[in-house]
Amino acid sequence: MDFRRPEMFDFHGVQMTHYFTDNWEKVQNFRARPDDIVIATYPKAGTTWVSYILDLLHFRQTDPEREATVPIADRVPFLELFLPSLYTPGAEMADALPTTPRIIKTHLPVQFIPKTFWEQNCRIVYVARNAKDNVVSYFHFEGIEKMQPEPGDWSSYLQRFKDGKMVYGSWYDHVRGWWEKKQTHSRIHYMFYEDLVENTGREIKRLSSFLGLSTSEDEKAKIREAVHFDVMKDNPLTNFADDVTLDAPVPQFMRKGKVGDWKNHFTVAQNEQFDEHYKQKMKNTTLQFKTEI
Ligand code: A3P
Repeated sequence: MDFRRPEMFDFHGVQMTHYFTDNWEKVQNFRARPDDIVIATYPKAGTTWVSYILDLLHFRQTDPEREATVPIADRVPFLELFLPSLYTPGAEMADALPTTPRIIKTHLPVQFIPKTFWEQNCRIVYVARNAKDNVVSYFHFEGIEKMQPEPGDWSSYLQRFKDGKMVYGSWYDHVRGWWEKKQTHSRIHYMFYEDLVENTGREIKRLSSFLGLSTSEDEKAKIREAVHFDVMKDNPLTNFADDVTLDAPVPQFMRKGKVGDWKNHFTVAQNEQFDEHYKQKMKNTTLQFKTEI
């Protein structure tokens, strides 16, 4: 297989790898439709979980064949992904999606979102996850995902996260950039991984109403069941079991799915230093996260 772990480089002020920038012109010239739905996140914030909920809200009842056979990565294309030796480029996949609406995933920071999505006034769901669990999840993921740079050791990784030297750049800039955009843009639904863990049913209801759907109680309950961590972990269509770039003997994409797992990774000193740094980076924002529930 002709792919290998990439180097990061500065891309208009954000650290990226070529797998997400090589198709830049196509991505930036993507033509959205008004009913497209974008799911945007910093990596490891619960993208797959929310993508699957959005997909089920729209298609579970009307397209049982899809539900039984189509992997999540084919239902919800990853817009900027470009690894043509293995996958159809995300922008082309999105373009060719036969569904209405099309659900399209991206990790791009808000300033890189192709302008077509703003022009068409598309609905955008942004999922944010607290920094501590986000960095732990990203660390484990980069250990098994050969499309990502080597994570190195935990303590230097944590320092890199604080410095924003991660693929897709600074977590702080990402979550804050989207939060600020949301203040003036009513078609962004900004939601939190922690809320989804705390009360999945409530968040499914909020998503349904943001999408303008009138999902029945019974249907919402079925979706809640289907998106439970254990169910998604056992489902080969949602657990990335066949993903050839994942270097893991069993599906480890669905790792823990918890709020507060950071406590098993941060030392006391790392936690204190992190909190201090966090305060500086997150001052002057109303954006608040829960790090435990
Ligand atoms: P952990 O590594 O903390 O377990 P993304 O889809 O953005 O890559 O996010 C992956 C993270 O979301 C992983 O976190 C994964 O386990 C978690 N996740 C995926 N589906 C989930 C679910 N149904 N319930 C809870 N967490 C889920």
